[in-house]
Amino acid sequence: MRKIGRPTLVTLAIAALPCLAGGEGPATVPHRSPIALALSADGKRLLTANQTAGTVSLVDVEARKVLDEVSVGEKPAGVAFAPDGRRAVVANWYGYDVAVLEAKDDKLAVVGRVEVGPEPRGVAIAPDGRTAYVAVGAADEVARVDLDERQVTGRLPVGREPRSLALSPDGGTLVVSNARSRGVSVVDVAGFRVLKDVPVEGENLRQVTVAADGRYAYLANMKDRQFATTRNNIDQGWVLGQRLTRIDLKEPQPYATISLDPRGRAGADAHGVAVGRDGKYIVVSLGGTHELMIFRAAPERFPWRVDGSRDLMQPDLLNDETGRFRRLELGGRPTELAFAADARTLYVANYLGDSVQVVDAESASLVATIPLGSPETPSLARRGEVLFHDATRSFNQWYSCNTCHSDGHTNGLHWDTLNDGRQDLSNNHERSRKKSPTLRRVTRTAPWTWHGWQTSLEQATVESFTKSMQGTRPTDEEARAVVAYLETLEFPRNPHRNPDGSLTPEATRGEALFRSAKAACATCHKGPEFTDGKVHVVGLEEPDDAYEGYNPPSLLGVYDKYPYLHDARAATLRDALSGPHAPEMVGGETLSEQELADLVAYLKAL
Ligand code: HEC
Ligand code: HEC
Repeated sequence: MRKIGRPTLVTLAIAALPCLAGGEGPATVPHRSPIALALSADGKRLLTANQTAGTVSLVDVEARKVLDEVSVGEKPAGVAFAPDGRRAVVANWYGYDVAVLEAKDDKLAVVGRVEVGPEPRGVAIAPDGRTAYVAVGAADEVARVDLDERQVTGRLPVGREPRSLALSPDGGTLVVSNARSRGVSVVDVAGFRVLKDVPVEGENLRQVTVAADGRYAYLANMKDRQFATTRNNIDQGWVLGQRLTRIDLKEPQPYATISLDPRGRAGADAHGVAVGRDGKYIVVSLGGTHELMIFRAAPERFPWRVDGSRDLMQPDLLNDETGRFRRLELGGRPTELAFAADARTLYVANYLGDSVQVVDAESASLVATIPLGSPETPSLARRGEVLFHDATRSFNQWYSCNTCHSDGHTNGLHWDTLNDGRQDLSNNHERSRKKSPTLRRVTRTAPWTWHGWQTSLEQATVESFTKSMQGTRPTDEEARAVVAYLETLEFPRNPHRNPDGSLTPEATRGEALFRSAKAACATCHKGPEFTDGKVHVVGLEEPDDAYEGYNPPSLLGVYDKYPYLHDARAATLRDALSGPHAPEMVGGETLSEQELADLVAYLKAL
């Protein structure tokens, strides 16, 4: 079992000792894997949220070295500095809390902790230095935290899976990117209410930033185009594409967008976005293609489109010879970005590079790499993690495994990946698309695919590379590496249980029902993973299915696997159980309203 709870100081003490480097044991120096960063207001210090090490590093920007590092919690995912450059906050994605930090001279210390709810990631601190806002991903809300009192003072429902948030420079507006509901929530900070929900063209929303003028917010994201993963569709930008999106915070204008994909050499896994103080450069990081796209343009002269993006990058940008568009290869997996006050020096958190990279936007060049620490030799699982995030393994580098199985989980979308033995040629995409399943604990839930026809996980990985990605076949060693990475993927702690881990009374009643002959759930959803490993005909088949029946999916963590069923037809658990997958469809009896509510409460607690 994965260790739950806070890393101890011992872990860090070991990590800090270089003599213990090398080898693959518990005493190995961890990968730091920075997923987020924050620059102090005076531009001298930088903090990184080191996701796989459970630490935050304090970096001296001028000396380009790490001054200090502290253990902060489980899977830190977002970090912010207060204006005084001393106080900071880090959100622990799997820890369900934020740690309050103090950076004093060359030292960093955890001085407090606040529980905020399940899967917090993005965090921002108000100009008052006292109030923090946290995107609580699995609660679909923003939590407001008083950092002096160390308590949550408000909760605001936003879209689904809020990831990143950013404050306008005056602190009056908060912009939240909702990764799984195609939209951005614009929040009035004073009234702590959602002013507007701006639907955007796309999914997988990541970093959001507000430009210095306070008028525009920018974000980079993916757009699902719904066509099957054939080479022709991929190349036309009809499977999915990358977008840069601009939202007007002041005027009631539609959002503006551009496509980030040149034909034949697309971008993949857009993640970070930053705009210099003078608005001259807009930079996007693409984790999958390990690069930055640097756009030089005063925003008003930029070829934004308000009537929908094109399939491919516009020729006027792509063929511009004055350097309005440049690509900079960085290696690893560039994620969050932050511009220095000079509006040309850019800091890049590089997750797979275990480093912060310093880039000069003017010359589009890498100036320096600040290593945060990593083992001498990457483990098999880390090599698998690299492959999992590598879009150059897909046809013309349009996407990676991580695009659909975000962070090894699901992005909630359904795709026609040809992995089910058929392709829909009628352009009725709904019929042959299948939901991308979570890969958490996937090594324990044989057989694989919705139909359950696949009995080898290594082979499933090969199919993913060659069919879903239309890329080259992995070597046996590469397939083993990916499986070793999948082995590390665990569910976060269940948020629908009592604090001591026990079931609520409602869920307890639901459990009895689940196991009863009346509901009959446990005949198929049984064992520790809630699946019997067999294939059943449950009334959801299509006439032209290539394989008969479906394999009961694991029900662990099912509260966060929405939408439900192989074709994603049910938005909620309740929808699934009162319609297409009602007990009476699978050998049980019709349940009362109360029984259904109890059953759903139990499912949510798994
Ligand atoms: C375009 C989206 C997409 C991409 C890219 C993608 N997958 Fe998938 N993946 C899916 C879908 C959809 C399914 C379900 C397919 C089915 O059941 O027919 C799936 C199924 C799987 C399964 C079986 C899971 C289970 O519980 O049965 C594994 C394992 C898997 N993918 C791994 C990978 C790996 C590794 C990569 C990269 C090499 C990858 N996928 C790339 C969408 C994607
Ligand atoms: C005869 C076997 C069988 C029985 C009995 C059964 N299920 Fe299922 N269940 C399946 C199969 C197969 C699927 C996948 C069907 C599909 O997606 O088309 C599934 C899917 C689900 C899903 C969707 C999971 C997801 O990730 O989308 C939930 C939730 C679920 N079952 C809960 C239940 C509950 C609760 C009961 C009892 C009322 C139950 N099932 C009874 C076989 C069964």
